[in-house]
Amino acid sequence: MTSKEYKELSLKEFTKAAEVYESDHAGVYEMCKKDYPDVLAELEKEPFSDLLDCGCGTGPMLTLLHEKYPEKHYTGIDLTPRMIEVAKAKNMEGVDLVVGDCEHLPFEEGSFDAVICCESFHHYPDPQAFFDSVYRVLRPGGRFILRDMTMNSAAVRWFCNNVEMPLAHLAGKGDVRIYGREDIRRLCENAGLEMVTFEKRGFCRLHCLIRKPEAPSKNYSSITSSYRQSKNIYDDVLTQSKWWSRLYIRLFWSGVDDVELTRRVLSYIPDDFDGRLLDVPVGTAVFTHEKYSAMKDAQIVGLDYSEDMLAQARQRLSQLPNVELVQGDVGALEFDRSSFDIVLSMNGFHAFPDKPSAFRETYRVLKKGGKFIGCYYVRGRSKVTDALVSRILVRKGWFTPPFDTPEQLRRRLEKVYDLAEFHVEGSMVYFCGIKR
Ligand SMILES: C[S@@+](CC[C@H](N)C(=O)[O-])C[C@H]1O[C@@H](n2cnc3c(N)ncnc32)[C@H](O)[C@@H]1O
Repeated sequence: MTSKEYKELSLKEFTKAAEVYESDHAGVYEMCKKDYPDVLAELEKEPFSDLLDCGCGTGPMLTLLHEKYPEKHYTGIDLTPRMIEVAKAKNMEGVDLVVGDCEHLPFEEGSFDAVICCESFHHYPDPQAFFDSVYRVLRPGGRFILRDMTMNSAAVRWFCNNVEMPLAHLAGKGDVRIYGREDIRRLCENAGLEMVTFEKRGFCRLHCLIRKPEAPSKNYSSITSSYRQSKNIYDDVLTQSKWWSRLYIRLFWSGVDDVELTRRVLSYIPDDFDGRLLDVPVGTAVFTHEKYSAMKDAQIVGLDYSEDMLAQARQRLSQLPNVELVQGDVGALEFDRSSFDIVLSMNGFHAFPDKPSAFRETYRVLKKGGKFIGCYYVRGRSKVTDALVSRILVRKGWFTPPFDTPEQLRRRLEKVYDLAEFHVEGSMVYFCGIKR
């Protein structure tokens, strides 16, 4: 079934259910009532002020919360207009109710310090889009409490997902899938969220506390140390100059030739370029030093967070008076607005811990009409690469989630750049955008 078909089924099912949802003849939905005290108890473990209820239905949780803590600000979102109508009829002050899809939460970044989702998640055809969306709307340090159906054993879950659900669809139910601990852990990791606890409660409930990490700057020490550890092998890895680095490219990157890919990226910079270029992160300049040697009239600034990387770049570029190398954070650039004609970012965004700030800052320092050129890892293209990235490169600190899919990156770039080039090769994307 397609995503649209699932959602149509949910709409139909819950338009009907809205009439009886909170009554004592709500049929199968009676079971949901057992979840509310547990969600409330979890919430009460820490203070909160702005709460979002995803798939809020007629708002039973919001009603409970509003009665107990009327001073707080609440928002409920649900796909089914009739559910929201019934919730609105309760006239709860300080409660905003919105018809919408939890896979694309229509709220500003960092709007909430608590997000709850109770017995709705198993209706979402794209669970990762939902987790990504929760990450975006949560404040750093904010909590996400997920309560849903599950089954302890993988075999029983398989049976539910592959036998019971298709039968439920015939009966008009919009359920998509139920999940186990490992599924939720992976969704969290891809979205940049941390799974704090995963508990199986009662007969078939998962109760999960998830957190958006505090200000990402905390991760910088791990970046510094991971690049320190790898400084002696870094260039060999990238240039495939050793047998084991060729093996790494084959194993991790399905054989995508990063040397050739880099050549294409650098071809977007004219050889006779004579403006200002920011290269972030400059790394060891292993791929760029030849190009920069030929760009005598350009003013080039190379920025990196790691002093170990910069030390090697300094050696390589010491003969080029038009290249300045500085230590700094891409998320807080110390350059004026519109001060560069080109911003080049090769293999950086999959490592940057605070990606929204990195996108914002690289955009700010670029002139209108200037080029944003880059390449980096995107998830969702190869199961093998994604697994190796999350199990090895993320744990080692070389890469930092969340990672975009190619479609997400394209949408993100298209908001502010005209894309002159956008290519996907294996699990890498390379592009050239013009700032509007
Ligand atoms: C079983 S009810 C749960 C309602 C409430 N959270 C509770 O605990 O009682 C599931 C709700 O999820 C909503 N829903 C399903 N898919 C959705 C989506 N993609 N986005 C938002 N809401 C969705 C349905 O409309 C329905 O109101």
